[in-house]
Amino acid sequence: MKALIYTGIKENVVDIVEKPKPAPKEGQVLIKMSASALNHRDEWMRVGKYPNMEPNVTLGSDGCGIIEALGPGVDKNLEGRNVIINPNNGWGPDLRAQSVDYNILGMPLDGTFAEFIVVNQDRVHFKPEHLNDEEAAALPLGGLTAYRACFTHGVIKEGQNVLITGIGGGVALFALQFCLAQGARVYVSSSNEKKLKIAINMGAKAGFNYTDPDWPKSAINSTGGFDVIIDSAGGNAINNYIKVSKPGGIIVFYGSTTGLCEGVDLFRMFWSQVRLQGSTMGNDQEFAAMVKFVETYNIKPVVDSVRPFADIISSFDEMKQGTQMGKLVVKF
Ligand SMILES: NC(=O)c1ccc[n+]([C@@H]2O[C@H](COP(=O)([O-])OP(=O)(O)OC[C@H]3O[C@@H](n4cnc5c(N)ncnc54)[C@H](OP(=O)(O)O)[C@@H]3O)[C@@H](O)[C@H]2O)c1
Repeated sequence: MKALIYTGIKENVVDIVEKPKPAPKEGQVLIKMSASALNHRDEWMRVGKYPNMEPNVTLGSDGCGIIEALGPGVDKNLEGRNVIINPNNGWGPDLRAQSVDYNILGMPLDGTFAEFIVVNQDRVHFKPEHLNDEEAAALPLGGLTAYRACFTHGVIKEGQNVLITGIGGGVALFALQFCLAQGARVYVSSSNEKKLKIAINMGAKAGFNYTDPDWPKSAINSTGGFDVIIDSAGGNAINNYIKVSKPGGIIVFYGSTTGLCEGVDLFRMFWSQVRLQGSTMGNDQEFAAMVKFVETYNIKPVVDSVRPFADIISSFDEMKQGTQMGKLVVKF
């Protein structure tokens, strides 16, 4: 079968190679993939900014496909079912944070950028019926990350003012859809006016261009501040988020694309009783709740574009440039 692996070789650090089709062991299922989606995590791996990388591992955390074969002891009803994969492995018993054994599908375990994958039967969920395969493939990692950030940590409620930064991002778009479904007043930021317009058409109240140094002033003047801010860029912008938070507000961040913050404005933070909360992925209960939420509210992942698996490497370049709006999907 064809698979996209991390080679560890600088000139060709990810490559499509032939690998043997895996066979399901006890408690496992073999899935014939129909579609997979990229996450920024895959690009961090390509540029060597991910810990504990091992050569020859198939990358990819998101995917959808048909269960083709069952290992011993697997529920016979699973055969032939169209499923998505929960990319969590080994979260552990503490719902607040993952265990030391936790890992995400696609390093160190072989991931979804392959024609076939083997996973434990408890990792599969039936594909939501309102989604086609490409949309379903785009859901797991981004949907889960947004769900935990918005609801477990952000505890976003109807009528609250929420700011979602960098709305072109895959996770950010899920956060927008989830918060709108929850009845929040959602505002967004982006570096790109077109993306702001698309988000407003989706239901955002207004958008701010974060490349304009005066955006915090206009945000406060037009909204009165935010109860919850959902961010993945980090860096020095954290101080802007502290500024535009309402007293008692919370900033939930699940990434730090622009790096560290040189100096957090602790004075403003303690006086305004603002919290800064990290978030990563989500546990299995949150994954199930996220899928149910998506079904209940008929939410469809925003897919930027779909291309054949053979073109996957150029999708990494696209993601690096950040011109996409939503998920980049490959079809097998
Ligand atoms: N902890 C976790 O579990 C977890 C899970 C998923 C992702 N992440 C991390 O979260 C980040 C985003 O992931 P993704 O998959 O959603 O990426 P993505 O689809 O590639 O989106 C990246 C987006 O980041 C936005 N951005 C870039 N610089 C920004 C800035 N200075 N301020 C605000 N936004 C900025 C851009 O938005 P505009 O184009 O609108 O300007 C861009 O579209 C990555 O760092 C990723 O590693 C973490």
